[in-house]
Amino acid sequence: MILGVLLAVVGLSGVTTGSPIVTVPPNAASENSEKPTAVVVVEEAREEVMETGELNPNHYPAQRAAKVVQHYLNTLHGSPYKVFGLQKVFRAYAEDVPGSGRKYQLELSVQEMVKKTTANCEAEVIFPRKEDHPPLQVHVSSHDDLLNNNVSLQEETLLYQQYKRNHSLLFAQNLPDSNGHIEPEHIPFWHLGAVASSFVMLSESTEDTLYNMAQVANITQLASNDDPLKFEYDVLLHEMVSQEIIAWKMLVTWSPSEGVKVLKMEKREYSVTNLKTTLL
Ligand SMILES: *[C@@H]1O[C@H](CO)[C@@H](O)[C@H](O)[C@H]1NC(C)=O
Ligand SMILES: *[C@@H]1O[C@H](CO)[C@@H](O)[C@H](O)[C@H]1NC(C)=O
Ligand SMILES: *[C@@H]1O[C@H](CO)[C@@H](O)[C@H](O)[C@H]1NC(C)=O
Repeated sequence: MILGVLLAVVGLSGVTTGSPIVTVPPNAASENSEKPTAVVVVEEAREEVMETGELNPNHYPAQRAAKVVQHYLNTLHGSPYKVFGLQKVFRAYAEDVPGSGRKYQLELSVQEMVKKTTANCEAEVIFPRKEDHPPLQVHVSSHDDLLNNNVSLQEETLLYQQYKRNHSLLFAQNLPDSNGHIEPEHIPFWHLGAVASSFVMLSESTEDTLYNMAQVANITQLASNDDPLKFEYDVLLHEMVSQEIIAWKMLVTWSPSEGVKVLKMEKREYSVTNLKTTLL
Protein backbone atom coordinates (compact mmCIF):
# COMPACT_ATOMS: atom_id res chain seq x y z
CA MET A 1 0.00 0.00 0.00
CA ILE A 2 2.80 2.39 0.86
CA LEU A 3 4.42 1.48 -2.44
CA GLY A 4 1.21 2.35 -4.22
CA VAL A 5 1.17 5.80 -2.66
CA LEU A 6 4.71 6.36 -3.84
CA LEU A 7 3.78 5.35 -7.34
CA ALA A 8 1.00 7.86 -7.51
CA VAL A 9 3.05 10.69 -6.05
CA VAL A 10 6.17 10.02 -8.07
CA GLY A 11 4.23 9.37 -11.24
CA LEU A 12 2.05 12.43 -11.08
CA SER A 13 4.86 14.73 -10.16
CA GLY A 14 6.56 13.74 -13.36
CA VAL A 15 9.62 11.88 -12.13
CA THR A 16 8.92 8.64 -13.97
CA THR A 17 10.27 8.35 -17.48
CA GLY A 18 8.20 5.43 -18.73
CA SER A 19 8.83 1.74 -18.36
CA PRO A 20 11.27 0.20 -17.97
CA ILE A 21 12.50 3.09 -15.87
CA VAL A 22 16.02 2.51 -14.66
CA THR A 23 17.60 -0.80 -13.87
CA VAL A 24 19.93 -0.84 -10.91
CA PRO A 25 23.12 -2.87 -11.54
CA PRO A 26 23.03 -6.16 -9.59
CA ASN A 27 26.00 -5.30 -7.38
CA ALA A 28 24.67 -1.82 -6.70
CA ALA A 29 21.56 -3.36 -5.24
CA SER A 30 23.52 -5.42 -2.71
CA GLU A 31 25.97 -2.62 -1.88
CA ASN A 32 23.14 -0.21 -1.27
CA SER A 33 20.64 -2.68 0.01
CA GLU A 34 19.83 -0.44 2.94
CA LYS A 35 19.18 2.53 0.69
CA PRO A 36 16.87 1.44 -2.12
CA THR A 37 16.32 4.19 -4.65
CA ALA A 38 12.93 5.67 -5.38
CA VAL A 39 13.15 4.33 -8.91
CA VAL A 40 13.27 0.73 -7.75
CA VAL A 41 10.30 1.34 -5.50
CA VAL A 42 8.30 2.65 -8.43
CA GLU A 43 8.89 -0.49 -10.48
CA GLU A 44 7.87 -2.75 -7.64
CA ALA A 45 4.83 -0.62 -7.03
CA ARG A 46 3.78 -0.75 -10.65
CA GLU A 47 3.74 -4.54 -10.59
CA GLU A 48 1.84 -4.56 -7.35
CA VAL A 49 -0.89 -2.17 -8.44
CA MET A 50 -1.44 -3.97 -11.76
CA GLU A 51 -2.84 -6.83 -9.74
CA THR A 52 -6.54 -7.41 -9.71
CA GLY A 53 -9.00 -6.30 -7.09
CA GLU A 54 -9.98 -3.13 -5.34
CA LEU A 55 -7.67 -0.23 -6.24
CA ASN A 56 -6.93 2.93 -4.38
CA PRO A 57 -9.03 5.42 -6.36
CA ASN A 58 -6.41 8.16 -6.03
CA HIS A 59 -3.59 6.08 -7.43
CA TYR A 60 -2.29 6.11 -10.93
CA PRO A 61 -3.92 2.93 -12.34
CA ALA A 62 -7.41 4.00 -11.32
CA GLN A 63 -6.78 7.55 -12.55
CA ARG A 64 -5.51 6.34 -15.92
CA ALA A 65 -8.60 4.22 -16.50
CA ALA A 66 -10.86 7.06 -15.36
CA LYS A 67 -9.14 9.50 -17.73
CA VAL A 68 -10.24 7.26 -20.60
CA VAL A 69 -13.84 7.79 -19.48
CA GLN A 70 -13.33 11.57 -19.71
CA HIS A 71 -12.07 11.26 -23.29
CA TYR A 72 -14.89 8.92 -24.18
CA LEU A 73 -17.54 11.34 -22.88
CA ASN A 74 -15.97 14.16 -24.87
CA THR A 75 -16.12 12.13 -28.07
CA LEU A 76 -19.81 11.45 -27.47
CA HIS A 77 -21.05 14.72 -26.01
CA GLY A 78 -18.34 17.38 -26.42
CA SER A 79 -18.80 20.70 -28.19
CA PRO A 80 -17.31 24.22 -28.04
CA TYR A 81 -19.53 24.72 -24.96
CA LYS A 82 -19.31 21.27 -23.42
CA VAL A 83 -16.01 19.76 -22.31
CA PHE A 84 -15.70 17.07 -19.69
CA GLY A 85 -12.91 16.77 -17.19
CA LEU A 86 -12.30 14.03 -14.68
CA GLN A 87 -13.20 15.26 -11.22
CA LYS A 88 -12.86 12.39 -8.75
CA VAL A 89 -12.62 8.63 -8.70
CA PHE A 90 -14.60 7.14 -5.81
CA ARG A 91 -14.06 3.47 -6.42
CA ALA A 92 -12.01 1.37 -8.83
CA TYR A 93 -11.80 -2.36 -9.28
CA ALA A 94 -9.56 -4.13 -11.79
CA GLU A 95 -9.58 -7.69 -13.04
CA ASP A 96 -8.17 -9.81 -15.82
CA VAL A 97 -10.77 -10.98 -18.29
CA PRO A 98 -9.46 -14.05 -20.11
CA GLY A 99 -9.45 -13.58 -23.87
CA SER A 100 -10.44 -9.96 -23.58
CA GLY A 101 -8.04 -7.89 -21.52
CA ARG A 102 -8.06 -5.95 -18.31
CA LYS A 103 -11.35 -4.68 -17.04
CA TYR A 104 -11.70 -1.66 -14.76
CA GLN A 105 -14.99 -0.92 -13.03
CA LEU A 106 -15.15 2.64 -11.84
CA GLU A 107 -17.36 4.98 -9.89
CA LEU A 108 -16.36 8.53 -10.66
CA SER A 109 -17.51 12.08 -11.13
CA VAL A 110 -16.88 14.27 -14.12
CA GLN A 111 -17.15 18.02 -14.36
CA GLU A 112 -18.42 19.83 -17.39
CA MET A 113 -15.82 22.58 -17.50
CA VAL A 114 -17.86 25.35 -19.15
CA LYS A 115 -20.98 25.26 -16.95
CA LYS A 116 -19.10 23.81 -13.96
CA THR A 117 -21.75 21.16 -13.45
CA THR A 118 -20.81 17.72 -12.20
CA ALA A 119 -22.24 14.27 -12.73
CA ASN A 120 -21.61 10.94 -11.08
CA CYS A 121 -21.06 8.01 -13.40
CA GLU A 122 -20.44 4.32 -13.32
CA ALA A 123 -18.06 3.15 -15.99
CA GLU A 124 -16.38 0.06 -17.29
CA VAL A 125 -13.14 0.29 -19.27
CA ILE A 126 -11.63 -2.76 -20.95
CA PHE A 127 -8.05 -2.40 -22.14
CA PRO A 128 -7.33 -5.02 -24.79
CA ARG A 129 -4.37 -7.34 -24.48
CA LYS A 130 -1.57 -5.92 -26.58
CA GLU A 131 -1.30 -9.03 -28.79
CA ASP A 132 -4.96 -8.94 -29.69
CA HIS A 133 -5.57 -5.28 -30.57
CA PRO A 134 -9.34 -5.18 -30.34
CA PRO A 135 -10.49 -1.63 -29.66
CA LEU A 136 -10.58 -0.20 -26.19
CA GLN A 137 -14.09 -0.62 -24.81
CA VAL A 138 -15.83 1.93 -22.62
CA HIS A 139 -19.33 1.83 -21.18
CA VAL A 140 -20.68 4.68 -19.08
CA SER A 141 -23.98 5.09 -17.30
CA SER A 142 -25.18 8.01 -15.24
CA HIS A 143 -28.36 8.90 -13.42
CA ASP A 144 -27.53 12.58 -13.78
CA ASP A 145 -28.83 14.11 -16.99
CA LEU A 146 -25.67 16.15 -17.52
CA LEU A 147 -24.47 13.82 -20.21
CA ASN A 148 -27.42 14.39 -22.48
CA ASN A 149 -28.58 17.88 -21.70
CA ASN A 150 -28.47 20.54 -24.39
CA VAL A 151 -28.49 23.79 -22.46
CA SER A 152 -25.63 25.01 -24.66
CA LEU A 153 -27.64 24.75 -27.86
CA GLN A 154 -28.38 28.46 -28.04
CA GLU A 155 -24.75 29.52 -27.58
CA GLU A 156 -23.66 26.91 -30.07
CA THR A 157 -26.08 28.16 -32.68
CA LEU A 158 -24.87 31.74 -32.24
CA LEU A 159 -21.22 30.73 -32.52
CA TYR A 160 -21.94 28.57 -35.51
CA GLN A 161 -23.79 31.32 -37.36
CA GLN A 162 -21.12 33.89 -36.55
CA TYR A 163 -18.32 31.79 -38.03
CA LYS A 164 -20.42 30.43 -40.86
CA ARG A 165 -21.33 33.88 -42.10
CA ASN A 166 -18.07 35.68 -41.47
CA HIS A 167 -16.14 36.36 -44.65
CA SER A 168 -12.76 35.98 -42.99
CA LEU A 169 -11.77 32.58 -41.69
CA LEU A 170 -10.56 32.06 -38.14
CA PHE A 171 -6.85 31.65 -37.56
CA ALA A 172 -5.37 31.45 -34.08
CA GLN A 173 -2.21 30.16 -32.44
CA ASN A 174 -0.95 29.16 -29.02
CA LEU A 175 -4.07 28.65 -26.92
CA PRO A 176 -3.14 29.26 -24.17
CA ASP A 177 -0.07 31.43 -24.77
CA SER A 178 3.03 31.29 -22.56
CA ASN A 179 1.29 33.53 -20.00
CA GLY A 180 -1.66 31.15 -19.81
CA HIS A 181 -3.88 33.67 -21.63
CA ILE A 182 -6.57 32.96 -24.21
CA GLU A 183 -8.53 35.69 -25.98
CA PRO A 184 -12.20 35.36 -24.95
CA GLU A 185 -13.41 34.86 -28.53
CA HIS A 186 -10.99 31.94 -28.90
CA ILE A 187 -12.12 30.04 -25.81
CA PRO A 188 -14.86 28.02 -27.59
CA PHE A 189 -12.25 26.93 -30.15
CA TRP A 190 -9.84 25.95 -27.43
CA HIS A 191 -12.66 23.79 -26.01
CA LEU A 192 -13.30 22.35 -29.45
CA GLY A 193 -9.60 21.52 -29.67
CA ALA A 194 -9.80 19.74 -26.31
CA VAL A 195 -12.81 17.72 -27.45
CA ALA A 196 -11.16 16.82 -30.75
CA SER A 197 -7.99 15.88 -28.86
CA SER A 198 -10.05 13.47 -26.78
CA PHE A 199 -10.72 11.48 -29.97
CA VAL A 200 -6.96 11.08 -30.40
CA MET A 201 -6.31 10.44 -26.71
CA LEU A 202 -9.06 7.82 -26.56
CA SER A 203 -7.61 5.94 -29.50
CA GLU A 204 -4.04 6.21 -28.15
CA SER A 205 -4.80 5.30 -24.53
CA THR A 206 -3.57 2.09 -22.97
CA GLU A 207 -3.42 0.85 -19.40
CA ASP A 208 -0.02 2.58 -19.15
CA THR A 209 -0.83 6.07 -20.42
CA LEU A 210 -2.29 9.25 -19.00
CA TYR A 211 -2.99 11.88 -21.65
CA ASN A 212 -3.90 15.55 -21.32
CA MET A 213 -4.10 18.23 -23.94
CA ALA A 214 -1.30 20.72 -23.30
CA GLN A 215 -1.99 23.35 -25.94
CA VAL A 216 -3.79 24.14 -29.16
CA ALA A 217 -0.80 25.25 -31.24
CA ASN A 218 -2.65 26.28 -34.42
CA ILE A 219 -6.25 26.52 -35.58
CA THR A 220 -7.04 27.26 -39.20
CA GLN A 221 -10.62 27.45 -40.31
CA LEU A 222 -11.05 26.01 -43.79
CA ALA A 223 -13.56 27.19 -46.36
CA SER A 224 -16.37 24.67 -46.56
CA ASN A 225 -19.53 24.42 -48.62
CA ASP A 226 -20.98 21.81 -46.28
CA ASP A 227 -23.00 22.77 -43.27
CA PRO A 228 -20.43 22.04 -40.55
CA LEU A 229 -17.56 24.42 -39.89
CA LYS A 230 -14.24 22.86 -40.79
CA PHE A 231 -10.92 23.37 -39.01
CA GLU A 232 -7.39 22.14 -39.14
CA TYR A 233 -5.95 21.85 -35.64
CA ASP A 234 -2.36 21.34 -34.48
CA VAL A 235 -2.46 20.24 -30.86
CA LEU A 236 0.19 19.27 -28.35
CA LEU A 237 -0.68 16.39 -26.08
CA HIS A 238 1.13 15.61 -22.85
CA GLU A 239 1.57 11.97 -21.94
CA MET A 240 2.30 12.07 -18.23
CA VAL A 241 3.80 8.62 -17.79
CA SER A 242 6.54 9.08 -20.39
CA GLN A 243 6.54 12.91 -19.97
CA GLU A 244 6.36 13.17 -23.75
CA ILE A 245 4.84 16.08 -25.65
CA ILE A 246 3.28 14.74 -28.83
CA ALA A 247 2.03 16.86 -31.73
CA TRP A 248 -1.05 15.82 -33.70
CA LYS A 249 -2.70 17.38 -36.70
CA MET A 250 -6.45 16.91 -36.97
CA LEU A 251 -9.14 17.76 -39.47
CA VAL A 252 -12.21 18.63 -37.40
CA THR A 253 -15.77 19.51 -38.32
CA TRP A 254 -18.45 20.87 -36.04
CA SER A 255 -22.02 22.07 -36.22
CA PRO A 256 -24.66 22.21 -33.47
CA SER A 257 -26.72 19.52 -35.17
CA GLU A 258 -23.94 17.15 -36.23
CA GLY A 259 -21.59 17.67 -33.29
CA VAL A 260 -17.82 17.26 -33.38
CA LYS A 261 -16.20 14.91 -35.88
CA VAL A 262 -12.53 14.22 -36.37
CA LEU A 263 -12.13 13.28 -40.03
CA LYS A 264 -8.34 12.82 -39.94
CA MET A 265 -5.73 12.52 -37.23
CA GLU A 266 -2.04 12.40 -37.89
CA LYS A 267 0.85 12.18 -35.46
CA ARG A 268 3.56 14.73 -36.25
CA GLU A 269 7.26 14.92 -35.75
CA TYR A 270 7.76 17.76 -33.34
CA SER A 271 10.74 19.11 -31.47
CA VAL A 272 9.90 20.18 -27.96
CA THR A 273 13.23 21.78 -27.10
CA ASN A 274 11.81 25.23 -26.49
CA LEU A 275 8.44 24.08 -25.29
CA LYS A 276 8.73 22.73 -21.77
CA THR A 277 9.73 26.10 -20.37
CA THR A 278 6.61 27.75 -21.70
CA LEU A 279 4.10 24.99 -21.07
CA LEU A 280 5.00 22.80 -18.16
C1 LIG B 1 -32.91 19.60 -26.42
O1 LIG B 1 -32.95 19.57 -27.85
C2 LIG B 1 -34.08 18.95 -28.38
C3 LIG B 1 -33.97 18.97 -29.90
O2 LIG B 1 -32.68 18.60 -30.29
C4 LIG B 1 -35.35 19.68 -27.94
O3 LIG B 1 -36.50 18.98 -28.42
C5 LIG B 1 -35.39 19.74 -26.42
O4 LIG B 1 -36.49 20.54 -26.02
C6 LIG B 1 -34.12 20.35 -25.88
N1 LIG B 1 -34.09 20.31 -24.42
C7 LIG B 1 -33.76 21.36 -23.69
C8 LIG B 1 -33.79 21.14 -22.22
O5 LIG B 1 -33.44 22.42 -24.17
C1 LIG C 1 -14.98 37.83 -38.38
O1 LIG C 1 -13.68 37.25 -38.24
C2 LIG C 1 -12.67 38.16 -37.88
C3 LIG C 1 -11.35 37.39 -37.91
O2 LIG C 1 -11.45 36.17 -37.27
C4 LIG C 1 -12.98 38.73 -36.50
O3 LIG C 1 -12.00 39.66 -36.13
C5 LIG C 1 -14.34 39.38 -36.53
O4 LIG C 1 -14.69 39.81 -35.23
C6 LIG C 1 -15.40 38.42 -37.05
N1 LIG C 1 -16.67 39.11 -37.20
C7 LIG C 1 -17.78 38.69 -36.63
C8 LIG C 1 -19.00 39.49 -36.92
O5 LIG C 1 -17.80 37.69 -35.93
C1 LIG D 1 1.88 25.64 -36.06
O1 LIG D 1 2.04 26.29 -37.29
C2 LIG D 1 3.35 26.74 -37.56
C3 LIG D 1 3.33 27.46 -38.87
O2 LIG D 1 2.47 28.54 -38.81
C4 LIG D 1 4.31 25.56 -37.59
O3 LIG D 1 5.64 26.02 -37.76
C5 LIG D 1 4.20 24.77 -36.29
O4 LIG D 1 5.00 23.60 -36.37
C6 LIG D 1 2.76 24.39 -36.03
N1 LIG D 1 2.68 23.72 -34.73
C7 LIG D 1 2.43 22.41 -34.61
C8 LIG D 1 2.42 21.89 -33.22
O5 LIG D 1 2.23 21.68 -35.55
